[in-house]
Amino acid sequence: GTQNLKLVTCTAPVNIAVIKYWGKRDEDLVLPINSSLSVTLHQDQLKTTTTVASSRSLKEDRIWLNGKEENINLPRLQSCLREIRRLARKRRSSGDGGAESSGLAHKVHICSVNNFPTAAGLASSAAGYACLVYALARLYGLEAELSEVARLGSGSACRSVYGGFVQWLMGEREDGKDSVAEQVEAESHWPELRVLILVVSAERKLVGSTAGMQTSVETSPLLKFKKPLVVPAHPPVEGHCVVLDEFARRAANTFGKAIALGSSCLLTTHYNISVTNECSVKTTISLVNLNRNANNKVAYTFDAGPNAVIYTLQQHLEQFVELLKHFFPPETNGEQFVKGLPVRPASLS
Ligand code: PMV
Repeated sequence: GTQNLKLVTCTAPVNIAVIKYWGKRDEDLVLPINSSLSVTLHQDQLKTTTTVASSRSLKEDRIWLNGKEENINLPRLQSCLREIRRLARKRRSSGDGGAESSGLAHKVHICSVNNFPTAAGLASSAAGYACLVYALARLYGLEAELSEVARLGSGSACRSVYGGFVQWLMGEREDGKDSVAEQVEAESHWPELRVLILVVSAERKLVGSTAGMQTSVETSPLLKFKKPLVVPAHPPVEGHCVVLDEFARRAANTFGKAIALGSSCLLTTHYNISVTNECSVKTTISLVNLNRNANNKVAYTFDAGPNAVIYTLQQHLEQFVELLKHFFPPETNGEQFVKGLPVRPASLS
């Protein structure tokens, strides 16, 4: 019957790395070969909303993504489910879980919806797995450190568990217990920072990040330089720019454990294997270069797809968006849109 039905709905935002995670040293535990640093965006704009339901009457675990049923047996999805249930069970047997976690033997149905293109290199898996793990934890009444569990779903998801400026420390242990994210600064640290997402293609990317990373580890000439560095002089988003200089300056005290070269490694390979040869992206790069040469107001980066991410400050936003509209009039590309995203705290709700 439905009298045992439990429902939990949560949302989680995407995060965009300034120092990228790109390459795993352990595929099963999702342990990275370098630490990374990101900003979590305000979830009013790009977010995942996930509802989890559990009831005695459910026969099996099932998942729907954007309204379409997906394979529940994906290994990383299974890792997350298993780990959350293990933690919840452990907590219950230690006596402080109470009735809250009693739905543990029941199956779950998971419905997850993104309000932005999925798998188009816009950190949908980061928001998705952070949200899933958080929703399941709420369902089971589990209060635990969730970054490590989210990491099992998608590496970058461990950073979406926190708001503001977040670093994921690569850790040293083989069991991954020290490979977790932590907030280094609240979003109030830099209230003028704005992140613009330029969606030039909402298509699913051709090469998933796992395969891309493997190619990268095998082929990127830059990876061999990837040694732990002291604070990078400039975070490795393309080129120099006052925003990034400022980022580095503000970061210097707190991001000391971060490791440089991430984005460059990503770029050296994913340009070849992914979809970033689109002329719209080239134009974006030209545009940003142009702007940067002129007055150094913006910087850009890419994740694993063609959509550019721009970092700038509130005071430059309007002018830059005007410039964008001039170069990318909406009629030339139906998909393209621009969003100004303030960085805000509360990552999960
Ligand atoms: O979390 P994954 O496996 O989707 O990898 C994402 C990696 C990048 O987004 C390209 C970089 C990063 O640090 O977020």
